[in-house]
Amino acid sequence: MLPQLEELKQKALQELEGISNIKELESWRVCYLGKKSELTQILRSLGRLPLDDRKAVGSRANEVKAYLENSLEQKGLAIGEMQLAASAKREAIDITLPGRPFPMGHLHPITQTLYEICDIFASMGFQVVEGPEVEWDYYNFDGLNIPKEHPARDTMATLWVDFETASGESPMLLRTHTTAADLRVMENMSPPIRVVIPGRVYRYEASDATHTPMFYQIDGLVVDKGITMADLKGTLYEFARRFFGEDRKVRFRCDYFPFVEPGVEMSIECSVCGGAGCRLCGNTGWIEILGAGMTHPQVVQRGGFDPEVYTSFAFGMGIDRMPMLRYGIDDIRLFYSSDLRFLRQF
Ligand code: DAH
Repeated sequence: MLPQLEELKQKALQELEGISNIKELESWRVCYLGKKSELTQILRSLGRLPLDDRKAVGSRANEVKAYLENSLEQKGLAIGEMQLAASAKREAIDITLPGRPFPMGHLHPITQTLYEICDIFASMGFQVVEGPEVEWDYYNFDGLNIPKEHPARDTMATLWVDFETASGESPMLLRTHTTAADLRVMENMSPPIRVVIPGRVYRYEASDATHTPMFYQIDGLVVDKGITMADLKGTLYEFARRFFGEDRKVRFRCDYFPFVEPGVEMSIECSVCGGAGCRLCGNTGWIEILGAGMTHPQVVQRGGFDPEVYTSFAFGMGIDRMPMLRYGIDDIRLFYSSDLRFLRQF
């Protein structure tokens, strides 16, 4: 019976070699290791053999069985791996394909300008602070020498907030300028004060190419002993030089604002005509960019400081105008139209 076992083993292994899928493998198992297989028959018939044969055949048959079982397991693993590799190949992702780019946003041109202006003043020792957009009449007007009957109120068409005190007045409004934060700063800080106050301001105005009911301003305030007009001019010259470039000419002229004395306006040479005169500058060669002055002694006093000891200068400018001048944008409404074709250019 021993040669029969050898033959069986050879045949089984040979057949196993050619098998490449699980179904065939299962048939092979049934055929060579199943209940009705030749090997099982041999093992079952052992009892009928003479004792010597029984031992020899029995141990050999068990060896063959173990060998075939082991081969079956190995083959099963090999087929599994093959199938895995095949499916991996089928479902493979081409990792060399370039990815889809995520659209990246950026800051709005007004925000960029605002940050740039704040950076310039911060490098000169100014702190950046903010005030409320809904403001008391006192901080926006009264406290800044613009009482109820003052004609300067008419230059700032105001959006009043629907709120009345017991005496029937309506003392709250949407601030018309960031100068409204000046008195708040003086009430809360002590000299030396050097701040810039950027933010949104509101006026009751119809929109056109140069006006919107909401726009941006930045004010500056300096309070200390011995502050003079020279500090004002030096600071603003330096700002203009850094923001508009080394050789842009700057001009100061007298102007009137109720909360400063004396008051000035600062203009820069027109970027379009270089001073020769054109449509943008109304043929003057100059473009006004800010108002400024020595803070009125009454305002310094209201802020809590003795104007005989402390002096102060202030300035204020529209932020929207800056990128308009720099890039030659002729309609302020473009900034607030959310048109990506416009915004993506900055
Ligand atoms: N607040 C003024 C405006 O909106 C601008 C201004 C002028 C601000 C002179 C100042 C200043 O701080 O000193 O038109």
